[in-house]
Amino acid sequence: MMVCEFKPGLEGIPAAQSSISNVDGQNGILEYRGIRIEELAEKSTFLETAYLLIWGELPNKEELEAFEHEVHSHRRIKYRIRDMMKCFPESGHPMDALQASAAALGLFYSRRDLHNPIYIRDAVVRLLANIPTMVAAFQLMRKGNDPVRPCDDLDYSANFLYMLNEKEPDPLLARIFDVCLILQAEHTMNASTFSARVTASTLTDPYAVVASAVGTLGGPLHGGANEEVIQMLEEIGSVENVRPYIDDSLQRNVRFMGFGHRVYKVKDPRATILQSLVEQLFAKFGHDKYYDIAQEMERVIEEKLGHKGIYPNVDFYSGLVYRKMGIPTDLFTPIFAISRVAGWLAHWKEQLEENRIFRPTQIYNGRHDHPYTPIEQRA
Ligand code: CMC
Repeated sequence: MMVCEFKPGLEGIPAAQSSISNVDGQNGILEYRGIRIEELAEKSTFLETAYLLIWGELPNKEELEAFEHEVHSHRRIKYRIRDMMKCFPESGHPMDALQASAAALGLFYSRRDLHNPIYIRDAVVRLLANIPTMVAAFQLMRKGNDPVRPCDDLDYSANFLYMLNEKEPDPLLARIFDVCLILQAEHTMNASTFSARVTASTLTDPYAVVASAVGTLGGPLHGGANEEVIQMLEEIGSVENVRPYIDDSLQRNVRFMGFGHRVYKVKDPRATILQSLVEQLFAKFGHDKYYDIAQEMERVIEEKLGHKGIYPNVDFYSGLVYRKMGIPTDLFTPIFAISRVAGWLAHWKEQLEENRIFRPTQIYNGRHDHPYTPIEQRA
C-alpha cells in the first residue's frame, strides 16, 4: 500500500478536478469559468453569474430571462418553514437559523432524482430563490415582526434588501450589493465547498449538501471572519490605535481577521474590488471612520507581515460595505451564504457528473492491543 505524507489542512492536495473557477494566488487572479472576476463585477449580475457557474456558459438573452423568471417566482417560502423559523430563539445566530431552514427544505422536497436535469434545475432554482428569503425572514421575525413577502417587481438583490429593510433600496445600494454577491459566489476548493462536495458524493439531496456547507462556512476561519473584522475595527476605535493594536496582537500571536489566505500570497482581487465599492458608497452616503482604520491596518500589516504573504482577503472590506448599508453584523456571513450557494450548487452538479464517494484515509497514531479495564478498576 502506498504511504502518503500527512498534510495538515490537506494543503496542496487536490480533492477534485474542476472547471468551475480558478485562483492564481501569486498574481492575485480569480476566474469563474475562465472569466476574470473584475469583468464579471463590472458587467454581470449575480443571477447571470450563478447561471455561468452552474451551467458552465453565460446564458443568452432568452435563457437569462427564463432563469430570472423562475428564480423570482420561487422566492416565497412555505408557511410551515416560516412557522418553524418563528420557533427559533431570537438570540440564536442567523447562520444556525439558515442551516436549519435550508435542511428543512429536504423535508418538503424529499424526492431524489439526481440523474434528471429537471430535478437538478428545480433544486438550483429553489435554493437560490429561498435562501435570501429565509435570511430576511429570520431577521424580521427575531425582531418580533412578520416576514415581508418578496416583491415581484424587484430583481434578486433589490428584493433581498427590500425584504430585509421593508423598503425599496436605493438603486446604487442594490447594484453594489449585487456585485458583492458576484464576488463571493465561488472560490475553488475552500472548506465549505469541500464540505458540499463530500456531502454530495454520498448522493444525498441538495438541501443536505447546502446545509452542511452553510455549517462549514460559519466558522471564524472561513466566512465568519467578516463579522469579526468589524468587531476588530470597533475595538481598535481610531487610526492612532492601529499600530499599537497590531504590535500587541503580534506579541500575543493573535490573528488579524480578514487577512491571510491559503492560496493568495498577494492582495485578494475581491478585496480590491470591494474597496472601490466602499469608496462609491461613501461618496454618496457619507464617510465612515472605520474605513480609515481599515486602510491603516492594511498599510501596517503589509509592513509587518507582507513578507509572509499576509494581505487583505475578501472578508476584510465586505463588512464595511454591509455596515454602511445598515445590515446587522451577524447577517454578514448569511449574506456570504446567499452568494456562495451558487458555487456550492455548481460543485454539487459537477460532483454528480463523475461521482465517487469521498473516503480518504488517515494515519493512525493510537495504541494497539490495549486491555479493557473493568470500571471498578479505573482510576
Ligand atoms: N494574521 C496574522 N498572521 C497570520 C494570519 C493572520 N490573519 N494568517 C496567517 N498568518 C501567519 C501564521 O501565523 C503563519 O505564520 P508562521 O509561518 O510564522 O507560523 C503563516 O501566516 C501561515 O499561516 P497558516 O495558519 O499556515 O495559514 P493557513 O493557510 O492555514 O490559514 C487562514 C489560512 C485564512 C485560515 C488564515 O490566514 C487566517 O486565520 N486568517 C484569518 C481569518 C480569515 O480572515 N479568514 C477568511 C479567509 S478568506 C475567505 C474565506 O475563506 O471565507
